[in-house]
Amino acid sequence: MTNKILFIANWKMFGDLDSVKSIKSVINLSKKKKYKKAKIIYCPPYTLLDKFVIKTRKTKLCVGAQNCHQVINTGPYTGAISTTMIKKIGAKYVIIGHSENRSNGETNNQINKKIHSAISNNLNVIFCIGENLFEKKHNRTNNILKKQIYLGLKQIKKIDKIIFAYEPVWSIGTGKILTNKELTKQIIIIKNIIKNLFKKQKTKIIYGGSVNNRNINNLKQINEIDGFLIGGASQNSKKFIDIIKKTIN
Ligand code: PGA
Repeated sequence: MTNKILFIANWKMFGDLDSVKSIKSVINLSKKKKYKKAKIIYCPPYTLLDKFVIKTRKTKLCVGAQNCHQVINTGPYTGAISTTMIKKIGAKYVIIGHSENRSNGETNNQINKKIHSAISNNLNVIFCIGENLFEKKHNRTNNILKKQIYLGLKQIKKIDKIIFAYEPVWSIGTGKILTNKELTKQIIIIKNIIKNLFKKQKTKIIYGGSVNNRNINNLKQINEIDGFLIGGASQNSKKFIDIIKKTIN
């Protein structure tokens, strides 16, 4: 694994005011010299963004939103949040293209607009890509990934603000996971797709999908990845800490 290891907590539609307190133990861990390599980013629901920003102020932890609207500033879009709003509240990251949003109808074109919006606001993008079970079964994985990357990053010139999160849809929340050999192969393929598009630019790529404190010892062996996007197991600070500790030991 590389210098800094990303541990991105995607809390999805979970969490309340009480759960904000629970991250104290993660903050304490991040202060220890041994875990300096860990770059911890919390992506709570919108309702808690402000609380997380306050709680993590003067710590090494960062905060991100789980989605955004494609329109940059403000507008008549009920229920939506823009990247300007995310930026102004003090978050530095935003997850874009998560399969749970793609499956609700989010298109590659919308994802592209969202990424442009995030970058124009100087936010870091956690760009999710991944095939579903049907696509995997029909050997369409590589074509799907290529399409998601090409269309999602249309007209994007620099990728230093982008963290690629490879999340096979069939692996999210299911406990099913590729073997290390298969995952390594897939990551290399993704890196090559990106290399073709962006030539010499450096890429950050993380893995997501059923990462937990039991399979982490195995997953951390994969040199090609720069960290993990963690859903279920990140909502419990004990489990999250366990994952970080096992990765960096
Ligand atoms: P999971 O979710 O770790 O619960 O599988 C990952 C994600 O959806 O980002």
